Amino acid sequence: MRDFFPGLAGVAATKSHISSVDGQQGILEYRGIRIEELAAHGTFLETAYLLLFNELPTSSALQQFENDLRRHRRIKYRIIDLIKCLPEHGHPMDALQAAVAALGMFYPTPDVRDPEARYWSAIRLLAKLPTMVAAFARLRHGDDHIQPNDNLSYAENFFYMLFEQQPDSAVATMFDTSLILHAEHTMNASTFSGLVTASTLADPYTVISSAIGTLKGPLHGGANEAVIHMLEDIGSVEQVSVYLDQKMAAKEKIMGFGHRVYKVKDPRALILQELAQRMIKDEKHDSLLTIAHVVEREMEQRLGHKGIRPNVDFYSGIIYYQMGIATDMFTPVFAMARVAGWLAHCFEQYQQNHLFRPDQIYEGPHNRPYEPIESRGHSSSVT
Ligand SMILES: CC(C)(COP(=O)(O)OP(=O)(O)OC[C@H]1O[C@@H](n2cnc3c(N)ncnc32)[C@H](O)[C@@H]1OP(=O)(O)O)[C@@H](O)C(=O)NCCC(=O)NCCS
Repeated sequence: MRDFFPGLAGVAATKSHISSVDGQQGILEYRGIRIEELAAHGTFLETAYLLLFNELPTSSALQQFENDLRRHRRIKYRIIDLIKCLPEHGHPMDALQAAVAALGMFYPTPDVRDPEARYWSAIRLLAKLPTMVAAFARLRHGDDHIQPNDNLSYAENFFYMLFEQQPDSAVATMFDTSLILHAEHTMNASTFSGLVTASTLADPYTVISSAIGTLKGPLHGGANEAVIHMLEDIGSVEQVSVYLDQKMAAKEKIMGFGHRVYKVKDPRALILQELAQRMIKDEKHDSLLTIAHVVEREMEQRLGHKGIRPNVDFYSGIIYYQMGIATDMFTPVFAMARVAGWLAHCFEQYQQNHLFRPDQIYEGPHNRPYEPIESRGHSSSVT
């Protein structure tokens, strides 16, 4: 009998130097540096640099990196036209995936192992993702696309492109911290799907569009959006208990809880919860944050013994909601941050490439006769 690991749980798919998770102690490190340190002292762009180049940048290296990114924030008018053509009710993650795939057609990468080509693809993807996300957010409502403002920081510029006004500096800093916390997380589903694509030596744009498609699902990045819908559905602290009982009786998952690796509270959730509390100073009786706190308390009683605790998506949505970002834009914002980690893994894969081609255990029949069409009585269904 061959070994079979559903969902590849516990199977090491690669050797990596990028990040590590200790799920028992709740420790996440990027290139050996704890996320608490990065969140307290760093910026998202320093973090992206660290993930991509293995070191925190010197001030001149950071300046060069930031300048390169600022110069590449604009997107071609044809990409804007493409985004305009997408259905306004379509999910923004689909729009982002399509726009990133199209981006690769404008910047062909004939040799993915060329360091120069890798650098510029990373710059373009990091710089242009926020522009594409903001463009879809506005164009779908018939508003004009707002050109990036080179005088603004990465976080400020995103808000400016989204809302036509700069955020106050506390909001920009919190948003930047949230991007740091979402930038990387070892071998999760979207990173793995990017890795599989990279192993075929597909270009970084294609790799990132694969990863975006995988991040969209509600069991992965889409959970932050689902959490807000859940908290809105619950509606009041008095309803929490009934809601959880019903969901659990129906064997449904509670969004924003549980993790394949963490058996304690996700360290990112701890920092994001603190940010949410700092942001929402006067917590009203039935505010989303208050309901979230009660959900967490009630869940601890119900499933804490199984190690099911809040993950990164539980509090991030509340922060974005408070910032005025539309719920369906939460996962694209996650992608804007995670692109740093995806790219780091993609480049690591190119350097130690081995095509992914796993095996399967076939459980179907063999040697079935070919039945003539006239004698086929059964109705078919897609499996
Ligand atoms: C993230 C997730 C897919 C990890 O799941 P996993 O490692 O495959 O674990 P399983 O789904 O097999 O769950 C193991 C057990 O815990 C339960 N469980 C896991 N997450 C749960 C949740 N969020 N709510 C209720 N029960 C949960 C399962 O029902 C299962 O119970 P059982 O042992 O009685 O069958 C899962 O926790 C989940 O679906 N969470 C909700 C979605 C979410 O927040 N995703 C974002 C992840 S960062």
